[in-house]
Amino acid sequence: MEILKEGKIYEVLLVTKSNITPVGVTRKNKRLNFKLFEGKSARDIKEYPYGAIHITWDVELLVKTALNLPVEVEFEDAKSVPIRKIKGLPSIEGRIKFSEKEIEDKLGKARILECSLIPTYEDIHPLFLPPPSRVDFYLLEMAIHLTRLYVTTRSLNVGESQKLYSKIWESYRLYKKLGGNSELAEKIMGFATAALRWNP
Ligand SMILES: Cc1cc2nc3c(=O)[nH]c(=O)nc-3n(C[C@H](O)[C@H](O)[C@H](O)COP(=O)(O)O)c2cc1C
Repeated sequence: MEILKEGKIYEVLLVTKSNITPVGVTRKNKRLNFKLFEGKSARDIKEYPYGAIHITWDVELLVKTALNLPVEVEFEDAKSVPIRKIKGLPSIEGRIKFSEKEIEDKLGKARILECSLIPTYEDIHPLFLPPPSRVDFYLLEMAIHLTRLYVTTRSLNVGESQKLYSKIWESYRLYKKLGGNSELAEKIMGFATAALRWNP
C-alpha cells in the first residue's frame, strides 16, 4: 500500500465478480478510492461488493480490458474475499463500500458509483514498482514538447512555437488536475514561457 502516494491517481486493474477493467485509484489512508461509470464492474459491485486491485505495467492489458477485448490471464481464488483474482500480478483485495451519485461534466450527465476498497489482504512486495500514473506521462510530455519548442524558437518558427506552447500548457493543466506536484512542472512552464518570450 505504501508504494501508492496519497493524492496521486494510479491506473490499476480492478477485478470484480465477473469483470476486469482499468480504473484510476487514489489512496486515502488505508483505503483505495475510485469512481465507476455505469457498466459491468459497477453492476458487479452493487450485487457483490468485493474486488481485487492489480498492479500492471502491461499497457495492452489495460487497453484491452477497457475495450472489453479478450485477454489471456489466469485466475486463482482470492485469499480473503469470495472472488477470483488474476494469478501472478501484485494485488490488494478487499471489501468495497459504495454510494451512487449523479454528476454532470463536459460529457453530460452520468450516474457514477463512488467506491472505496477496504483492503483485507495485500500481495505487494515493498520493492515493486508503483502502478503507472497518467500524471507522470503528462510531465514527460511537457519535457518532450519543451525540447521541441527550443528547436522551433531557435528557427523563429512562430506558428509551431505557439502550438507547442499550447500543448505544454495543456499537459501542465492536466498534470496539476491529476495531483502532480513536482517542481519540475513549474520549471518547465517557466522555461517554455521564457523561450516563447525571448526567441520568436
Ligand atoms: C487507463 C484507463 C483508466 C480508466 N479508468 C476508469 C475509471 O476510473 N472509472 C471508469 O468508470 N472507467 C474507467 N476507464 C474506462 C473503463 O475501462 C470503461 O468504461 C469500461 O468499459 C468499463 O465498463 P465495464 O465495467 O462494463 O467493463 C478507464 C480506462 C482506461 C483505459
